[in-house]
Amino acid sequence: ASTLGAAAAERGRYFGTAVAANRLGESDYVNTLNREFNSVTPENEMKWDALEPNQGSFNYGNADRIVSHARGRGMSVRGHTLVWHSQLPGWVNNLSGSNLRSATNNHINQVMGHWRGQIHSWDVVNEAFEENGTRRNSVFQRQLGNGYIEEAFRAARAADPNAKLCYNDYNTDGQNAKSNAVYALVQDFRNRGVPIDCVGFQSHFNSQSPVPSDYQQNLQRFANLGVDVQITELDIEGSGTAQANNYRRVVEACLAVSRCTGITVWGVTDKYSWRPNGTPLLFDGNYNKKPAYDAVLAAL
Ligand code: XIL
Repeated sequence: ASTLGAAAAERGRYFGTAVAANRLGESDYVNTLNREFNSVTPENEMKWDALEPNQGSFNYGNADRIVSHARGRGMSVRGHTLVWHSQLPGWVNNLSGSNLRSATNNHINQVMGHWRGQIHSWDVVNEAFEENGTRRNSVFQRQLGNGYIEEAFRAARAADPNAKLCYNDYNTDGQNAKSNAVYALVQDFRNRGVPIDCVGFQSHFNSQSPVPSDYQQNLQRFANLGVDVQITELDIEGSGTAQANNYRRVVEACLAVSRCTGITVWGVTDKYSWRPNGTPLLFDGNYNKKPAYDAVLAAL
């Protein structure tokens, strides 16, 4: 196959990208998106501050534009993200106890209900752990306690029974204190029948956090718990052959794990990457294919 999406499909996987609604008017952006990718994740448009800036009033427009663009072209959609400490509207941070619980349940019900049956996978909870494996001190953790992750997954299952429900995090790509904590959470959920279908590995790599040597092994140990694994926000700093080799390793790791069901890169082109001045993606600022692109396509 001659595109990322078609090549991934031949391997029973998807190949996706993060998409920004405000770029959908740029023809090079849209042409590259439509040609190469068969899954999308809204980069910011499904975050709490975007969808429910004031309590109880929901703005679906920008996210809807992405969902209809994708679904109209047969692409699947990852929902990102329901419960996260960041990009939260101020009013959520000011709620306590039962008010936060009901606001969170309502957010999950409304948002998942709005796109019920249209979202392949939802990042139900994002980035709940610290590097040392303890719980992040978020408003959810402080007000609702350890059970908030389970509560969110139970609410999510009820709100859209057909969506795969993922836990998503960064720096969990290799075996370390943080990924061990996520592993223990998933194992506990599986043992107790708490709904969870997938674990997302963001996979933001750079010289400080390179592709771990045990990446494949780590994906496999999660898969062995009976969940799918997905590479959800891939980008790798660098350029040329070194970057291409790192991308190849990521693709090979996913293909070696039968439950690794897809890869999403965190943007179409270097010029709109969230990493300032970085060049971590597969297309350069002029939408030319980089060596990393060729390596990924060849590896698929
Ligand atoms: C980033 C977006 O790419 C930026 O545009 C935004 O300003 C901040 O968030 N982990 C996540 C993503 O789960 O939602 C983040 O996306 C990158 C880190």
